[in-house]
Amino acid sequence: MFSRFAKPTGSLLSRAFSTTLSNNANVAVCGASGGIGQPLSLLLKLSPFVTRLSLYDIAHTPGVAADLSHISTKASVKGYLGPDELHDCLKGAEVVLIPAGVPRKPGMTRDDLFNTNASIVRDIVNAIADVCPKAMIAIITNPVNSTVPIAAEVLKKKGVYDPKRLFGVTTLDTVRSSTFIAEAKGLSVKSVNLPVIGGHSGVTIVPLISQCTPQVSFPQDVRDKLTVRIQNAGTEVVEAKAGAGSATLSMAYAAAQFAESLIEAMSGAVGKVECAYVESTETEAKYFATPVMLGKNGVESNLGIGKLLDYEKKLLDAAMPELLANIKKGEDFVNK
Ligand code: 2OP
Repeated sequence: MFSRFAKPTGSLLSRAFSTTLSNNANVAVCGASGGIGQPLSLLLKLSPFVTRLSLYDIAHTPGVAADLSHISTKASVKGYLGPDELHDCLKGAEVVLIPAGVPRKPGMTRDDLFNTNASIVRDIVNAIADVCPKAMIAIITNPVNSTVPIAAEVLKKKGVYDPKRLFGVTTLDTVRSSTFIAEAKGLSVKSVNLPVIGGHSGVTIVPLISQCTPQVSFPQDVRDKLTVRIQNAGTEVVEAKAGAGSATLSMAYAAAQFAESLIEAMSGAVGKVECAYVESTETEAKYFATPVMLGKNGVESNLGIGKLLDYEKKLLDAAMPELLANIKKGEDFVNK
């Protein structure tokens, strides 16, 4: 049923050396020296769709950029160091990916990162509003449920908010769900797609197993366990890393997948669909992740939540209080 949510074909690496694709995008990564930023920048350097890669961070970007610039793929790479160079980094950017900020340690929720990461996102988005207000903005910095509303409020204050161009990256939730369901059913992971809606933390992550392609069914206890594992998958990594941070490699993979789908759609490719946390009227939450059809100007259409089973309706009900509170917290941060 969920063919509306198609997985991109070909691995990032195999397509790195393709000569048939001609998309050209100027991409900036803000937070490029961090745990997510470095592998994300590497994957973007391997992407046939990226022509210019501008790397911003408050430390180490000259080294990261020099290192990546020796790779024999087409994107030119330049590093920008510290707030004084942020504006230069953003000049001409068509897509800005933001993984900047601190990660979780064991025992922390994504919301515990708010105090540190909220101002980081606010300041970067302020600069985007001044320098490249038409750029697509993809926010990875947690808590995504709140940092996307922060970005929206900043852009509104500057008079340049376009809801079609602002995304919270929730691709990792769909990547994980496909992986876990493929493992559970012995399927090829490439063939498994399912939408994950709501937000990007704990109970706000709502996997729609009933809309999986191919259709799969599980005994209720197995389905419950899978759902909880998907919701806590980020925490699973935080605990396994035992203080060294949260998911970086899988997050980078997921964000690169999202960026490539977006760039392809901006270049005119049709049928590019990714789940993303965007401004939405699907539920009472002003921002909500659903599958979205991407196009030249960002969100072309919101494909909605589809038909939910009672079990999934309950998950959605459970998600809503936390999601609404996270959104309000982000908006209040900018407006109070
Ligand atoms: C995760 O889901 C880092 O939020 C990210 O693991």
